[in-house]
Amino acid sequence: MHGPSLRPTSITLAAHQNYDGLSILLHWLTAFLVISLWTLGQTLSYFPKGAPRDAALSVHILFGITVGAVLLVRIAWRSSAGRRLPPADAGWPGRLAQSAHHGLYVLLLVTVALGLSRVWLHGNSVFHWFSFPKPAFSTWKLTRTIGGLHGDLADIVVIVAGLHAAAALAHHYLLGDSVLRRMLPGKRKG
Ligand code: HEM
Ligand code: HEM
Repeated sequence: MHGPSLRPTSITLAAHQNYDGLSILLHWLTAFLVISLWTLGQTLSYFPKGAPRDAALSVHILFGITVGAVLLVRIAWRSSAGRRLPPADAGWPGRLAQSAHHGLYVLLLVTVALGLSRVWLHGNSVFHWFSFPKPAFSTWKLTRTIGGLHGDLADIVVIVAGLHAAAALAHHYLLGDSVLRRMLPGKRKG
């Protein structure tokens, strides 16, 4: 009637369980894209005006669209078959970590939406392959405001992600536990 019963040790094992391979891949892809996007965004003005700066902005836009797509796949995967693990810490540190994770998803979505809005309002072209259609109501003031908000939100993402990474590294090097390994490939426990 019942399948083979799980031994009581499964509770202890759960604390050491890793995220699944796709979640791990999407996490590190997101981290790489976000750090690249922020660095490129901050250095856009160092590119000479004209073709070089247009090219840098085109790369930023393409990476930005990619991170948006990765984010949607990740959220869909996480809310369906993707493995969700209980907080690694009990009490408020666990709740703080979970809030940081949820906060990062929301902040990233808003940052991407503002970036896309900025591009749409300006009618930017991407490597002259295609241009976004500039809406009739767009004004330079509105475009600047949305662009400014996009930059501010991007800074907040990087600060929260930096604290999040510092917490993961502190778990690994100071507390010597397995929290960082949950997000690293290998050591599958089924
Ligand atoms: C998480 C993803 C992203 C991060 C971390 C990021 C980061 C940044 C940063 C730091 C800047 C410089 C802002 C400033 O100078 O104040 C910037 C500018 C810009 N980003 Fe992004 N970006 C992201 C996604 C996107 C997306 C998806 C798009 C559009 C498809 C986009 C389009 C732009 C544009 C057009 C600018 C120039 C804004 C202006 O000068 O007004 N970004 N981005
Ligand atoms: C821009 C960079 C980053 C972003 C946006 C980000 C975002 C996230 C998010 C949203 C989660 C929650 C996963 C979930 O349950 O759905 C997570 C988990 C995790 N991240 Fe990051 N992360 C970044 C960089 C890093 C770095 C650099 C490290 C390590 C040094 C790291 C280590 C971890 C670990 C260990 C977990 C699992 C935590 C747990 O199981 O409680 N992350 N990350």
